[in-house]
Amino acid sequence: MKYAEVYKILEKIYLNKAYSNIELQKECGEDKQVFKTVKGVLENEFRINRVLFELIEKKPKNKILIILKIAVYLLCFDENSKKYAVVNEAVNFAKSIGKSNVCGFINAVLKKASELKLPPDFKNIAEEISYKGNIPEYLAEIYLNNYGKSITELCFEKKQKKYHIIVNGIKWSREEFEKFLKVNEINFTLSCSGGYLTANNEKLSRLFNEGKITYISLCSSLIANECEKNTLDLCSAPGGKSIAATLNGCNVTVCDVHSHRLKLIDSYFKRMGIEYNEIFLNDATVRKDEFAEKFDTVLLDVPCTGFGVSDIRPDILLNRKKEDIDTLSKLQSVILDTSCGYVKKDGALIYSTCTITKEENSLQIKNFLETHDNFVLERCKTEGDIFDFGEQYLPIREGFGGFFLAKLRRIK
Ligand SMILES: C[S@@+](CC[C@H](N)C(=O)[O-])C[C@H]1O[C@@H](n2cnc3c(N)ncnc32)[C@H](O)[C@@H]1O
Repeated sequence: MKYAEVYKILEKIYLNKAYSNIELQKECGEDKQVFKTVKGVLENEFRINRVLFELIEKKPKNKILIILKIAVYLLCFDENSKKYAVVNEAVNFAKSIGKSNVCGFINAVLKKASELKLPPDFKNIAEEISYKGNIPEYLAEIYLNNYGKSITELCFEKKQKKYHIIVNGIKWSREEFEKFLKVNEINFTLSCSGGYLTANNEKLSRLFNEGKITYISLCSSLIANECEKNTLDLCSAPGGKSIAATLNGCNVTVCDVHSHRLKLIDSYFKRMGIEYNEIFLNDATVRKDEFAEKFDTVLLDVPCTGFGVSDIRPDILLNRKKEDIDTLSKLQSVILDTSCGYVKKDGALIYSTCTITKEENSLQIKNFLETHDNFVLERCKTEGDIFDFGEQYLPIREGFGGFFLAKLRRIK
């Protein structure tokens, strides 16, 4: 096991708060073992914490904790690792970074970990969901309070990972893409948004690089399908929904508050060989007069806690705190209030998040409608699993994550 490589990447993710998907792509290269181990540690974070909680009274210093997390993952959650070597490798690695003084401690903890009965006993259902779903306990409680025990359990049942693809109709046709899938024996199902669900396949990466297809979540493409004609996407980076709406025939004006993220949108459009209408560095919390009553659709894909996509971005759960729900819902409310005036009469305001908390979703829209009688709520083309001031999609149907979408029509 390449302990040093795995440790180096995890140190960046845990201590420097680097994005896990970016670090994995950048640092692992072709090394599948390093990639699998880093991903395995992150995807078992809360289970590993639970094991350590059973064995250690006081949280060790950060570097030691990372060494222990790697070893506990290999001992308890990786069926393919060579268990007999794990303890020695962890101890030797600790010595190599000058931590000889804690080798006895590491040795003792890992010996006990290898003998532990798993899964452990749970005091309550929130503890059990936290362990099974690999989420923090406060988030398990939010799921249980909002959706009840049986739906929550469905959300965390193991499912086969599927990738959602849309075709760039400017470069080739759906028929040509389907022929490619057939010739290369790639199984697929059509999604309810008109895209394709497949398992990952290396043959598709060439098409991605050529901009003939792109990967965009099923929920994102449902959101883009609600956009009409002249669309203003106020929080667009990295650009997935703007791209999908453009491919649907919309004329999209793209904006984001971060200039480095505007560059991501621009290069995404270039790869696809398509054009946006205009691009603005813009803070959606500040009113921009030139946008007033100008757009058929204003899309607000607001910054949110992201709990609905934590299976793809496990680092979201490492860095989020429960208090972020409150901070982000205040920001979302200001963005909604500032931007609703950009919608023409008879146009639509589309509000979306990739999360499952009521504060950021249904309560946000309920409060908005109470103070804006010129907007009414409409149902969307693909209905959610729960309708509560908008469509709440949950990770219980094939290809779905946890997303929220509300379509508000401006009637006067
Ligand atoms: C959920 S992401 C958007 C994802 C994007 N719609 C897509 O489909 O690829 C939220 C975006 O909002 C941007 N953002 C955060 N605060 C903002 C603000 N005050 N004004 C405009 N954009 C903001 C972030 O930089 C981030 O790119």
